[in-house]
Amino acid sequence: MSIQRPKGTQDIIPGTIEKWQFLEEQIRKICSEYGYKEIRTPVFEATELFQRGVGETTDIVNKEMYTFMDKGQRSITLRPEGTASVCRAYTENKLYALQQPVKMYYLGPMFRYEKSQAGRFRQFHQFGAEVLGGEDPLVDAEIICLIWDFFGRIGLKGLVVEINSVGCPTCRAEHRIRLQEFLQERKDDLCPDCQNRFTKNPMRILDCKNSSCQKLTENAPTTLDTLCVDCAEHFAKTQEYLNIAGIAYRINPRMVRGLDYYQKTAFEVTAEGIGAQNAICGGGRYDGLVQEIGGPATPGIGFAMGLERILSVMEKQSVEMLPEVEAPVVIAALGEAARQEGFRLLGDLRQAGMPAVMDLLGKGLKGQLKYADREQARYVLILGDDELARKMVIVRDMRLGEQQEIPLDQIKAFLLNHTKCEM
Ligand code: HAM
Repeated sequence: MSIQRPKGTQDIIPGTIEKWQFLEEQIRKICSEYGYKEIRTPVFEATELFQRGVGETTDIVNKEMYTFMDKGQRSITLRPEGTASVCRAYTENKLYALQQPVKMYYLGPMFRYEKSQAGRFRQFHQFGAEVLGGEDPLVDAEIICLIWDFFGRIGLKGLVVEINSVGCPTCRAEHRIRLQEFLQERKDDLCPDCQNRFTKNPMRILDCKNSSCQKLTENAPTTLDTLCVDCAEHFAKTQEYLNIAGIAYRINPRMVRGLDYYQKTAFEVTAEGIGAQNAICGGGRYDGLVQEIGGPATPGIGFAMGLERILSVMEKQSVEMLPEVEAPVVIAALGEAARQEGFRLLGDLRQAGMPAVMDLLGKGLKGQLKYADREQARYVLILGDDELARKMVIVRDMRLGEQQEIPLDQIKAFLLNHTKCEM
């Protein structure tokens, strides 16, 4: 049997890659407009980074990490998310010495050993952004604006933005006590995962997807019931700024997010019509994370969105994704001498910045014209012994269906005039 790709992974092949490139272009454009600089961190990190950063009680750390010992007996993990790595890089590269806040974005593959299903992959791609060194609620609002603006620009409709405040360690301690009191007599009826969460991280029980857990916790105290003055003010201000920006959001007191580092603002964007895995973006504030992994006390907030899920929504909503590709020039050469001249010309055209290709299989004229058609060429340069002897080339305009002869030494100038390339 032939070898197949690992479960939960995808090949992004020509024909599909153009959509990814379109999305990536839009991402780079909006990030540059909002003043975010790109950061690239390693695809693998010391396992401890995620254990401490993402948190020991999370599903990610408990069940989903690709962890292995390398040949030097170090425990290594393929990154399941980008935030912990960005915080590590911020500390390691002393980015706290730069003007704050530092606004960064990233694009790349993440790895989680999850049950693969529609919209859930083991290797998936995120566009994420992090703002480090800014604690003002204006930062929270601005980052949600970026997300909203981005989805608007790429033409997504029917999205729901949900926000919540999960409080800080101080007010969460109080919430924990109240929630455990509430759950005490219902504990035995919770799902096994939630029974586990009861002592480790009871707050997570609030967003369990199991319907019987949801029923049992219907009237449970939420973090909004116990916010301290500082967290309550922060949440109110964030909403005020979101209102000014005209963002339609919903407050969902049960949305607590599945990573341990969140404090204060948490948010998620969901889309209709893509099945159970409908979260296309998630994020929040993580004021304690940089310190948790050994850096200076630094407030932080960020988000990440799953590109596979976004593309799936775009497809469902028939959003146009037509990247502007320049049609190539195709050289059709007949006979060895013409092939050599064509090969030389190919190099010249490429040097001048023009996309140019030629048949590499030694096809006849008909085959080469068919090839040009498939390549969606705008111009085909036909070169045979006769043209070569007269130092001419036939230029066929594929759109107009017309052709003319041009002297070989003028062909580059002709094409530069007739295509949008500049020397
Ligand atoms: P997350 O909610 O775990 O947050 O992931 C963010 C997004 O990545 C999800 O909303 C979803 O679109 C996509 N995603 C997650 N897992 C998968 C998967 N198995 N297959 C396909 N797509 C997936 C984080 O990762 C945080 N680091 C976000 C953040 C940044 N918070 C603060 N800064």
